[in-house]
Amino acid sequence: MERRTISSLAAQKAAGEPIAMITAYDHPSAQIAEAAGVDVVLVGDSAAMTVLGYDSTVPVTVDEMLMLTAAVRRGIRTPLLVGDLPFGSYEASDVQAVATAQRFVKEAGCDAVKLERGGTSVQRARAIVDAGIPVMGHVGLTPQTAAITGTYRARGRSADEAFAVFESALALQEAGCFALVFEAIPAAATAAMMPRLDVPVIGIGAGNAANGQVLVWHDLLGIYGGPSARFVKHYAELRRPMTDAVAAYVAEVREHAYPLPMHGYGMPDDEASRLRAMIADR
Ligand code: KIV
Repeated sequence: MERRTISSLAAQKAAGEPIAMITAYDHPSAQIAEAAGVDVVLVGDSAAMTVLGYDSTVPVTVDEMLMLTAAVRRGIRTPLLVGDLPFGSYEASDVQAVATAQRFVKEAGCDAVKLERGGTSVQRARAIVDAGIPVMGHVGLTPQTAAITGTYRARGRSADEAFAVFESALALQEAGCFALVFEAIPAAATAAMMPRLDVPVIGIGAGNAANGQVLVWHDLLGIYGGPSARFVKHYAELRRPMTDAVAAYVAEVREHAYPLPMHGYGMPDDEASRLRAMIADR
């Protein structure tokens, strides 16, 4: 498979070929994403909850995100790598936004960064694009602000609210974003907006009219223990077999059933008896 680029994603949209995006947060998940043929890997700030155990995406720091993102970079070659700018790392000023985006490119090897919301984020996106770094926008349900207002609900169920989402999407597109994430938006609203959007739109809970889909790693594989949003589909249920496997290991250790001789290293009998003699003489 050819290495994905901003222009290859645009070509996929033009050709009507759906774009498959997934989150990943470490080296083995990155290698699996590569082997599975995904187009875009996002090291989402959902890492805050899925791998770092925070209650929301708000607390995760740039340094935490950079460590995870660099590990993913070492595991992929083909997909486009997008780093997620965490809450508090880009909102204050264009200077802050560009400096943070540059860290994701220089220290973690990102091909692009993602930021959330319209409003002031539009100007931040423009500044990062002007600094030469591709930006993916994110509208609809934006978890960084949803965590603060406590409203994790779909956005755009009324025409007025959907139109506000559309205005943000258009503004981000005009600011130079190469792609947009649409999160938790009614399928009919997405379908109504698509003809006016020139850049690829990646949906998560936004229906089938989008140019691609994204799912969170732990949701897709059924690893995350918490409640799932309605748009989540588990393509496997790995939490139970993972727990069973660890429990089986614990039981075997306690019963002296693991390790067996086959799991260890041999020593010639004469060397073993010489060692015993040396220890006895000590
Ligand atoms: O952080 C994340 O995982 C995301 C995706 C849900 C798009 O932003």
